[in-house]
Amino acid sequence: MASTIGMVLLMMIMVSLTSLASALSVNYYEHTCPQVESIVAGAVHKATMNDKTVPSALLRMHFHDCFVRGCDGSVLLKTKGKNKAEKDGPPNISLHAFYVIDNAKKALEAVCPGVVSCADILALAARDAVTLSGGPNWEVPKGRKDGIISKATETRQLPAPTFNISQLQQSFSQRGLSLQDLVALSGGHTLGFAHCSSFQNRIHKFSPKQAVDPSLNPSFASNLQSKCHIKNKVKNSGSPLDSTATYFDNAYYKLLLQGKSILSSDQALLTHPTTKALVSKYAHSQMEFERAFVKSMIKMSSITNGGKQIRLQCNLVR
Ligand code: HEM
Ligand SMILES: *[C@@H]1O[C@H](CO)[C@@H](O)[C@H](O)[C@H]1NC(C)=O
Ligand SMILES: *[C@@H]1O[C@H](CO)[C@@H](O)[C@H](O)[C@H]1NC(C)=O
Repeated sequence: MASTIGMVLLMMIMVSLTSLASALSVNYYEHTCPQVESIVAGAVHKATMNDKTVPSALLRMHFHDCFVRGCDGSVLLKTKGKNKAEKDGPPNISLHAFYVIDNAKKALEAVCPGVVSCADILALAARDAVTLSGGPNWEVPKGRKDGIISKATETRQLPAPTFNISQLQQSFSQRGLSLQDLVALSGGHTLGFAHCSSFQNRIHKFSPKQAVDPSLNPSFASNLQSKCHIKNKVKNSGSPLDSTATYFDNAYYKLLLQGKSILSSDQALLTHPTTKALVSKYAHSQMEFERAFVKSMIKMSSITNGGKQIRLQCNLVR
């Protein structure tokens, strides 16, 4: 307990220090690499043409990057020797499309060698992923440095899909993010897919008395059960996170209000008056959702813990 409080205090100090230290700016590469935006957007666009799961993968990758050691590209590093990297940490399920970042980096090295950080490439790619999916566009502050450490064990710092509202609130506030940020950023679940293992807690053995989470719409729950039947368990089975999983819209919030959310952590947003009110607000207004999402994305993607270098290859430290 004492060590938990110590950790929380330490994290709070780190967050306040880094918000002083980080001087990100939207025109950071104006003179050193003016092509950066178009090159990253091109790489994301090209990959998405071939694989519709690329945008959701990039958005989630950026979230994982920022929640472990700040947005420093640590999620991109590969395991080297005995040091297992974040990539190979426990909740890496569905992390993919690393090649998109690597391709963008290669193209950038050809025109402005040693200039653009991998952390910035990922932040840009996440924005491009949202815009390409029909979501909002915004200017991404840049100037992150790449970290040199990536540890699989640290992925335990990521929020789990079984977290309740107080655990989610704690996880976000440790990183300087509010309940409003939590609700707006959970809207990232308008894109992509969850494997059965991520929501199995809701559809069988939910509690000693109930097999199924009673907050789920019953027919929706049986549909999830049939997709994840233990006996005919198909590898990689699961469910889209919302009904329009390649389109960035506010359907996620509408479905949540109908008992049709996928993760317990989504459902948890309805268990606190502040977050519940925000869910309703975003369900009723795509515009309010987009405005809040952009604001919170900029906040999340500005968590920097003082990276050290500009990598030459995104999966390797220099
Ligand atoms: C609030 C805490 C969060 C929890 C507990 C959480 C948990 C999860 C889980 C368990 C999955 C499914 C993984 C799988 O089964 O393959 C997932 C998918 C996803 N998450 Fe979250 N997430 C959270 C917040 C966020 C945030 C802040 C973003 C980005 C803004 C985000 C974006 C995504 C995306 C896009 C996917 C789909 C990935 C894909 O299809 O490849 N999540 N999340
Ligand atoms: C996730 O971790 C497993 C186990 O270490 C590893 O085999 C797999 O390649 C990792 N997935 C990704 C996308 O890196
Ligand atoms: C959330 O879970 C934690 C850990 O299991 C527990 O201590 C806490 O009371 C729970 N909070 C709510 C609001 O359910």
